[in-house]
Amino acid sequence: MTAIVPVASGKGGVGKTIATANLGISLAQAGKTVILADLDLGAANLHTILGIRNRQPGIGHIISKKSSRIEDLVMETAVPRLHFLPGDGLLPATANLPFFTKKKIMRDLQNLVADYVLLDLGAGSNYNTVDFFLTGSFGLIVCTPETTSILNAYSFIKTAVFRLLYRSFPANSPERGIIQDFMMERLEGSSDSFLSLTERLDSETARDIVRTRLQEFCPRVVINNGRSADELPLGGRLRQIARKNLDIEVEYIGFLPHDPAVERSPFERTPTALAYPDCMFMRALRGTTSTLLKIQPEQPQFPMYDDDADLYAAARRYQEAVTDNPV
Ligand SMILES: Nc1ncnc2c1ncn2[C@@H]1O[C@H](COP(=O)(O)OP(=O)(O)OP(=O)(O)O)[C@@H](O)[C@H]1O
Ligand SMILES: [Mg+2]
Repeated sequence: MTAIVPVASGKGGVGKTIATANLGISLAQAGKTVILADLDLGAANLHTILGIRNRQPGIGHIISKKSSRIEDLVMETAVPRLHFLPGDGLLPATANLPFFTKKKIMRDLQNLVADYVLLDLGAGSNYNTVDFFLTGSFGLIVCTPETTSILNAYSFIKTAVFRLLYRSFPANSPERGIIQDFMMERLEGSSDSFLSLTERLDSETARDIVRTRLQEFCPRVVINNGRSADELPLGGRLRQIARKNLDIEVEYIGFLPHDPAVERSPFERTPTALAYPDCMFMRALRGTTSTLLKIQPEQPQFPMYDDDADLYAAARRYQEAVTDNPV
């Protein structure tokens, strides 16, 4: 099974692209086939970090319908077993990703054949990013050991949990209404736990879905740009608030140091993993790679529904009607 690993963060500039690129290289060096996909649409820069010129068509071509198959856009790199799927650097017109295109991209990504497909996502908690995050077998969240970064990571996780629960039920279902009301109450200051949602749901099946989702959802957190081990307890705060306020666990899979070698790499147009394989950052990152290699991607037990499944069905019926009964 291909492990799709989306890499997200609440705050921008925390090292997602650096972590994604070097993790990809490190996984390929460990013998795995890896595709690095640039999904930071609107600000694609993974090619720069990989030292690849921005000349190849990428996801922008799917969005503008100049290409139709994602697998045709995947290119080889100089690193054996490492492949790259460019973003929208050549055709940056993606501020609003149409719903159907997003769905197609998510489906195509799931059909790519590799051991790992790492998705470098944009910063922030908009629904496109969160939906890409939920495509994954398991997602990584990068943050730095600063209060704002931790709080932004928490906020991203909260949005992801809400979206996960919401999309666990079909469009127009009573459960969606209940989940939406619950979120509105939380925005207005209620501190009811996510598990308490189960008390509002009528059927045992629905309660089971919510319980299972909360149990299975376990973002893996990487703390980057650390300057001393004293900062570790701050990372622990994220676990406490996720447990207390969201009823979910997070797992720490890396504490990566601030390292001047990492800062130099983008200017030298060579990824840190290749230019400075023995620097502090890479030594720590290889620990994260080993942890990742041990995680078994699992198929979720329950299906996920589209946000606009009803709209999608209506569009399909329309399409069938106009194709089968040409005027
Ligand atoms: N461990 C590190 N040590 C030193 N510098 C780092 C480290 N991690 C990241 N940086 C610096 O931070 C910059 C931003 O990193 P990166 O582009 O990976 O962030 P990002 O989270 O992908 O940003 P965006 O949200 O804009 O996509 C890098 O170019 C590098 O200079
Ligand atoms: Mg980035």
